[in-house]
Amino acid sequence: MKQEARLINTETLLASISEAINKGELPLGVFNSPEIFELEKKRLFAKSWNYLGHVTEIPNPGDYIQRYIVDDSFIVSRDKENEVQVLLNACRHRGRKICSVEKGSIKNFSCPYHGWVYDLDGSLLDVSYEEKGYGEDAIDHKDWGLMHAPNVGIWSGMIFANLDPDAEPLEEYLGDAKWYLDFYTNKSEAGLEVLGVPQRWVVNADWKLAADNFVGDGYHTFITHASTISAGTLPVPTGEFLLDGVQISMDHFGTGMARQDPLFNSLAYPPPMMEAMRKRFNPEQNAMLDQGVSLPTHANLFPNLSFLNAPGAFTAKAPPAPYMTFRIWRPLAAGKTEIWSWCMVEKDASDEFKQASYKAYLISFGASGTLEQDDAENWFNISQVAKGTLSSDLLLNYTMGQKILKPMSDWPGPGDAYPLDFTEFAQRAFWKKWLATLEVE
Ligand code: FES
Ligand SMILES: [Fe+2]
Repeated sequence: MKQEARLINTETLLASISEAINKGELPLGVFNSPEIFELEKKRLFAKSWNYLGHVTEIPNPGDYIQRYIVDDSFIVSRDKENEVQVLLNACRHRGRKICSVEKGSIKNFSCPYHGWVYDLDGSLLDVSYEEKGYGEDAIDHKDWGLMHAPNVGIWSGMIFANLDPDAEPLEEYLGDAKWYLDFYTNKSEAGLEVLGVPQRWVVNADWKLAADNFVGDGYHTFITHASTISAGTLPVPTGEFLLDGVQISMDHFGTGMARQDPLFNSLAYPPPMMEAMRKRFNPEQNAMLDQGVSLPTHANLFPNLSFLNAPGAFTAKAPPAPYMTFRIWRPLAAGKTEIWSWCMVEKDASDEFKQASYKAYLISFGASGTLEQDDAENWFNISQVAKGTLSSDLLLNYTMGQKILKPMSDWPGPGDAYPLDFTEFAQRAFWKKWLATLEVE
């Protein structure tokens, strides 16, 4: 009975959010609701393509990393055949985590509880005292290997997993977003690598605030990041950068570009790198850059994988260098998120470039980066306000651009392109997708 009442409440809650979203509004309570968090776990994250990491984090057979989809832990390993495996990090005997560390290199995995041993591809190799404890051949090893993630996809070196065995293939899910993701991943023939290890930290803020920000919130930059801009860490000519930009809105993806000045348009990539990447982009992608916009800077792939490519200066006097970060917003609870942040760089770039890029990343979007701190302060604040009895029903205005902007007709790329980045088309698309996903049981 109790459960039934709760179900009705959930459906009523979704119906009221749907009504609000259709009017360009959103109830503040979505940013700190235990009911919504439970729904997201089962209906959204269990059925989405979740980013786990990059192939360069496990370059050699035996290398492994531990990664998470909400509460599920996975070992992402490189097996003896050099294949990437995504294994549920739970022993088939009593469920203990096989692997407690975050990264390493090993011959096989041995469970710390009773010592069952698994190969790098998850197959069961050895059961301690098998003959004496169970009898000869009593345990069929092939039935008791580690569970594999139901669905795994790798695109451009990026490893994703989906808990739904019937999910559409990753490439199909990415669809037209690949046209824009190429600008992040395909700048050089050598591809990308992770610099250092991903940085992680926990914030008392809802994951959706971060996704909402990266998918389309050019608008906050001139206020939230004003001090970073005036300090010179974010080298842009005016605080209004991104106002005169372009915002791309798709069902499952959004991104933004500036239309600012030559430095920002190249994101401070040196001319030889810019020329080399132009040769890799297709004619339509080059036609986009010919319109005088920057390389795509902020982006979010639904649900919680964000991208940022921008110029950063380690000190006000240092020449700006481009940096790129991939990040996931891993939900831990309502209003609580673990941020994972990778610094990505072209594998064949010079050591000098890599070092400058890493420093620009650290000062901007590392755990102690100024831009990161600016953003997290807002997200923490909103998540706390969202807990209030009265404030959780407060309707937020999501109508920016609705009455004044139409998609550009001469845009060479996919999706709807709007001629400003101070607008909220991509955010509205994110919320529609979020709601549609939660509505499916
Ligand atoms: S729980 Fe792993 S061997 Fe017993
Ligand atoms: Fe920001």
